[in-house]
Amino acid sequence: MVKICCIGAGYVGGPTMAVIALKCPKVQVSVVDISTPRITAWNSEHLPIYEPGLDDVVKQCRGKNLFFSNDVEKLVAEADIVFVSVNTPTKTQGLGAGKAADLTYWESAARMIADVSKSDKIVVEKSTVPVKTAEAIERILTHNNKGINFQILSNPEFLAEGTAIQDLFNPDRVLIGGRETPGGQKAIATLRDVYAHWVPVEKIICTNLWSAELSKLAANAFLAQRISSVNAMSALCEATGADVTQVSHAVGKDTRIGPKFLNASVGFGGSCFQKDILNLVYICECHGLAEVANYWKQVIKINDYQKTRFVNRIVSSMFNTVSGKKIAILGFAFKKDTGDTRETPAIDVCKGLIGDKAKISIYDPQVQEEQITRDLSLKKFDWDHPAHLQPMNPTSVKEVTCVRDAYEATKGAHGICILTEWDAFKSLDYQKIFDGMEKPAFVFDGRNVVDAEKLRKIGFIVYAIGKPLDAWLKDMPAVA
Ligand code: NAD
Ligand code: UDX
Repeated sequence: MVKICCIGAGYVGGPTMAVIALKCPKVQVSVVDISTPRITAWNSEHLPIYEPGLDDVVKQCRGKNLFFSNDVEKLVAEADIVFVSVNTPTKTQGLGAGKAADLTYWESAARMIADVSKSDKIVVEKSTVPVKTAEAIERILTHNNKGINFQILSNPEFLAEGTAIQDLFNPDRVLIGGRETPGGQKAIATLRDVYAHWVPVEKIICTNLWSAELSKLAANAFLAQRISSVNAMSALCEATGADVTQVSHAVGKDTRIGPKFLNASVGFGGSCFQKDILNLVYICECHGLAEVANYWKQVIKINDYQKTRFVNRIVSSMFNTVSGKKIAILGFAFKKDTGDTRETPAIDVCKGLIGDKAKISIYDPQVQEEQITRDLSLKKFDWDHPAHLQPMNPTSVKEVTCVRDAYEATKGAHGICILTEWDAFKSLDYQKIFDGMEKPAFVFDGRNVVDAEKLRKIGFIVYAIGKPLDAWLKDMPAVA
């Protein structure tokens, strides 16, 4: 029986290994982590992450061929294939701070693998890492020359949160990079055989190590670039009376462009896009490619501009001040169907409004108050370090309350900001909400989820990203 061990029981390690266990009943899969609360949660009825379909998969395999444990060293020592799926955050200090990937957690995992291994192993980079990381990892693994054969593979993960299980069941492709040596090719074949249990072989792409590592950064950069492109257009739409949804539809009908990932929004969030583009920028700079670095930097600049623009629009529409006014925030997660708040645009929007002395009432169906408090009190880039994954007591922000219901959040509010596209926000009783609000009552839809015309008929002043402005908003132009 092949034994797989995955270091890192996070958003990637947990679901990916659960699906491998489900699809390969003869493979024993262990997921290990240094965080005791995370492993305890994986072994409980309340999994540490909310992901549609995940509970079902875990229930089918846990205790059979899927195990979650803190016994990291023992399970790594016993494994034939070790996946490393630890976090690779942006460095906060020292050389490359604010851009380069912090490989501390990766390096410590690699050193531990080198120390505890007594048999040959395939070590798989699952985390997103800078191109050429495999070379450094190889050096760490072979430094004490115990006669053990380590083969390094790059097998980046392309799942998106909220659809992780369906992405893993039916991936567009699986990418495996390895050394172009007989040993490297044999290792690729071993991993390909694991995926071939459910992924058609023509969807399994095999490349050299550096192509696989770079393809992951490139894919995220391309995806984020699409959103920044449509968001840049959304600003122009508002200025000209064009409608961004109509523009996206018309543009996406070109088969060379395609219809997906063209929704204008308050900005992209999530743990990957910004971090990976910053990393790409840093790599380009290290290779003396300043022009290329500046090109990709612009994707992040437009994203920051979009969030600032949204906050400015709110403040300018409400007579240039939100001081003392209650603003309801509907949705805090970085997208629907997840409880993840890493780099969510809601953090920047809330901080912007608090900066203008608003009183904020937040409702998200999947995000707990403790998480929101933590997010609003952390410094940029601090969120992705394991110390912050442990429970702690962040000081609450006095201008913010978190409530468990959209009606409570909006009661007595002057304005509503929709920051996550939860389906439930489409079918709220907006007449009831309007009746309970201060007048004039505003809705700022950062995800284009509500029927703006219907809300205007109720009496709301509605701002929707990239849509023609109503008379009120035209009279109160926002300075970006
Ligand atoms: P995560 O923070 O949810 O999980 C990482 C886990 O690794 C944490 O639980 C942490 O405690 C653990 N860990 C850190 N160092 C460890 C060590 N030395 N030994 C054992 N455990 C250790 O992160 P994630 O979202 O799962 O992302 C992991 C990697 O996958 C990152 O490189 C990320 O860029 C990449 N990725 C993420 C996504 C996504 O949607 N979240 C998608 C594709 C790729
Ligand atoms: C992303 C990549 O899609 C995935 O392939 C990679 O493995 C990890 O990073 P994720 O961050 O989980 O996945 O979600 P994604 O669906 O890509 O959304 C990222 C952000 O972009 C969200 O804030 C989302 O709301 C936003 N978005 C997405 C838009 O604003 N408009 C769109 O059209 C699509």
